[in-house]
Amino acid sequence: MKCRVCRGPAVIDLPRHNANFCPEHFTRFCRDQVERAISDFDMMQPEDRILVAVSGGKDSLAVWDLLLGLGYAADGLYIGLGIGDYSDTSGGYARRFAQQHAEPRGAKLIEIDLVDDYGYDIPGGARAARRTPCSACGLSKRHLFDRAALDGGYDVLVTGHNLDDEAAVLFGNVLRWQTDYLGRQRPVLPARDGFPRKVKPLVRLSERETAAYCIVSGIDYLVDECPMSAGNKHLGYKEALNEIEVRSPGSKADFYFSFLRRAVDRFAPEPGTGDADRADPGVLAPCARCGSPTSTEVCAFCRLVERAGGSPPDDTPARPVTLGRRGGPDPTGTPSP
Ligand code: AMP
Ligand code: FES
Ligand code: ZN
Ligand code: ZN
Repeated sequence: MKCRVCRGPAVIDLPRHNANFCPEHFTRFCRDQVERAISDFDMMQPEDRILVAVSGGKDSLAVWDLLLGLGYAADGLYIGLGIGDYSDTSGGYARRFAQQHAEPRGAKLIEIDLVDDYGYDIPGGARAARRTPCSACGLSKRHLFDRAALDGGYDVLVTGHNLDDEAAVLFGNVLRWQTDYLGRQRPVLPARDGFPRKVKPLVRLSERETAAYCIVSGIDYLVDECPMSAGNKHLGYKEALNEIEVRSPGSKADFYFSFLRRAVDRFAPEPGTGDADRADPGVLAPCARCGSPTSTEVCAFCRLVERAGGSPPDDTPARPVTLGRRGGPDPTGTPSP
């Protein structure tokens, strides 16, 4: 197996690209894919201040490393979710990466801890709110990502969602024809109405590629999956898509990128309808507790914290939000089941 570029020994084969690469040219390939995603979808500008949500897993550490390598000023944000050993370990990986890259790249890590700062954890919060752990977790993370990005004055919030993630979410939404979610499933969500701009620069790289990138770059990451995600529908969708991909390389990327090219616009939400949780379509106004934009008096995050018996940090002032426009869909809901 020879590298497509230099004919040296290759360490990875990429059937979808009909190519093999040596470590150096594989790293360059990953960087090119991220640059291309950034430019194709107009994700960010060179002068932007970036906040990368890092879980300690391969994707988020890879995207942080790639953005730093491309010269972006990118800090990290780690949220301790209180999921036992898993959270303790994942935080360690995020912290170690941040320490290693503090000099000379100037990366710093912002940390939020659900238990210490808000008085609840994901298993308890999920039980109290009668949500699945992944739903309570997704809701908490989305809220805290938005808040940390806006409070810290960042221009863009980055997550490590990769091609497999996006294709699996698309697959699930198509299976059930969740048209409202389909209309919002883009790798860029513009800043609006008190929400930061959110982007997914890894959409052109698969899970296997981000893991390989970490290995060839010497990035130590948490391999274990979250223990609460066992049986999660998305894992099943990923397996199904992987089987198709083996028989027909490139199907996954075609499925996702052809959707973006040819179909997503057809599902654009009607102005003035729907919101992120679809609980209560209507106007967006500041949450009575935290000031975040919401279509209900108290936002879903503050309701979750209250039900779980927690409370926001004392020093957190209610964030006044100037809403440019009342009504309309919350643009930040991650399309998901
Ligand atoms: P997941 O929802 O676990 O599939 O993760 C999707 C993305 O959310 C990751 O690639 C990270 O960018 C971000 N993320 C997940 N968990 C955390 C966490 N505990 N702290 C900060 N960011 C996270
Ligand atoms: Fe959120 Fe597992 S990381 S439930
Ligand atoms: Zn090479
Ligand atoms: Zn709130």
